[in-house]
Amino acid sequence: MTQIIFEKSINGMTGVSLTEKEIIPDYLPQQFLRKVNPLLPQVSEIEAMRHFKELSDKNFCVESGLYPLGSCTMKYNPKVSEYLASSEGFTNLHPLQQDEDAQGALELMYRLQESLKKITGMDAMTLQGSAGAHGELCGMMIVKHYFKVNNQPQRTKVIIPDSAHGTNPASAGMCGFEVIKVNSNDKGQVDIEHLKSLFLDNKDRIAAVMMTNPNTLGLFEEKISDIANIAHENGALLYYDGANLNAIMGITTPRKMGFDIVHLNLHKTFAAPHGGGGPGAGPVGVAKYLQEFLPVPVISYDGEKYFRKYDLKNTIGKIKEFQGNFSVLVKAYVYILMKGDRLKQASEDAVLNANYLKEKLKKYYDLPYDTACMHEFVLSGNRQKAKGIHTLEIAKRLMDYKFHPPTVYFPLIVPEAMMIEPTETESKNRLDDFVCVMKEIAAEVDTNPQNILSAPHNTPVKRVDETNAARHLDLRYKE
Ligand SMILES: Cc1ncc(COP(=O)(O)O)c(C=O)c1O
Repeated sequence: MTQIIFEKSINGMTGVSLTEKEIIPDYLPQQFLRKVNPLLPQVSEIEAMRHFKELSDKNFCVESGLYPLGSCTMKYNPKVSEYLASSEGFTNLHPLQQDEDAQGALELMYRLQESLKKITGMDAMTLQGSAGAHGELCGMMIVKHYFKVNNQPQRTKVIIPDSAHGTNPASAGMCGFEVIKVNSNDKGQVDIEHLKSLFLDNKDRIAAVMMTNPNTLGLFEEKISDIANIAHENGALLYYDGANLNAIMGITTPRKMGFDIVHLNLHKTFAAPHGGGGPGAGPVGVAKYLQEFLPVPVISYDGEKYFRKYDLKNTIGKIKEFQGNFSVLVKAYVYILMKGDRLKQASEDAVLNANYLKEKLKKYYDLPYDTACMHEFVLSGNRQKAKGIHTLEIAKRLMDYKFHPPTVYFPLIVPEAMMIEPTETESKNRLDDFVCVMKEIAAEVDTNPQNILSAPHNTPVKRVDETNAARHLDLRYKE
């Protein structure tokens, strides 16, 4: 069993050799010196290296193998972005530095804002959001404030499709909105007649329709213009969850589709590491008539210098300390510069890869919506479930083959769902390897189901007793 680093500690062991002077430099006033040594593990450099290497070997990351976690866009994160984000000029900059001393960082943020405005078609942008869900919250706060300022406080309801990501109703709910579910039709798209009836039943009470396009089934909402018209004719705003922007970059924009507010997940589409790899960023873009509602400060440029602008008439205030997760912003901007006019190619390749996998896999697993998909698609493990193997077990068996499982049991409208998003950074060979393994697992359901039920066999942590863990949660490391 892996020891924690404190258990490896040996009194007096050190990883670096410093002189007394280096430990206590002359310029440090006596009164600020520690009286007691900090409680740190005492290990040699090589032991520290071994410890963290061992931990990282237990982890699975996109550098380990295909990571087709649907809706999460686990594409390769270029290392040059990391390198540039850790430049001294950025890392040594204090967020409270005066604007004139931080022109480089402000310029980068301004340029990023401008690029994202172009990519989304929106008129104004804030970079403050620290994740997709945080962007949603910011967007919903804007919706709420907009109707308050426009004397329509009775608009207290938000319509969200039944296929939506859980953060959508959660964000709307956190802002005090009542969430109304609109059904999907048999094509996996918003049921327009149901949407119309919801507006009829809730006259002047709907504040916004919150949509993801392509939706979480990986399908493009063909009636998006109709949906936008219905929302706008009824005085509501249209909100775009940009988690799936990787399917449409350079091809179309949320603004062209009729959206008024958009959040982006820079940590998905724009290749900043996320999950265990780092924090996120959820910029929010708005149409012109909403720009006065953005959180402050907005990064601005007067033709000579870059500055933080605070005097927006109807601002919702501040949603995050300082300017957001700056290092993520740097990584996203580097990615946009690297891609240049090839952003569109990234989306096209992501769509091609998803369609390739879908066509190859549909022989072995059920495909509830058998149509061209965008950057991801959703299979159902119903056929395997009938033979006693659930989607969860297929996911665990995949780990034995060094593939990260797809997103499972989401969206909720597909039973035994497996949501697969390969992204554009995977080669055909890798996709073929994945198909091969998925095919083998499908065959194993008939030939050796016990082997699937006891999977994973090759991972550092084997099958855990999830029910027991949930019912008798024990967070102590040792007795
Ligand atoms: C469709 C969709 N919307 C919103 C989110 C929330 O984004 P975040 O995890 O960055 O908060 C996700 C995350 O996976 C998502 O897939």
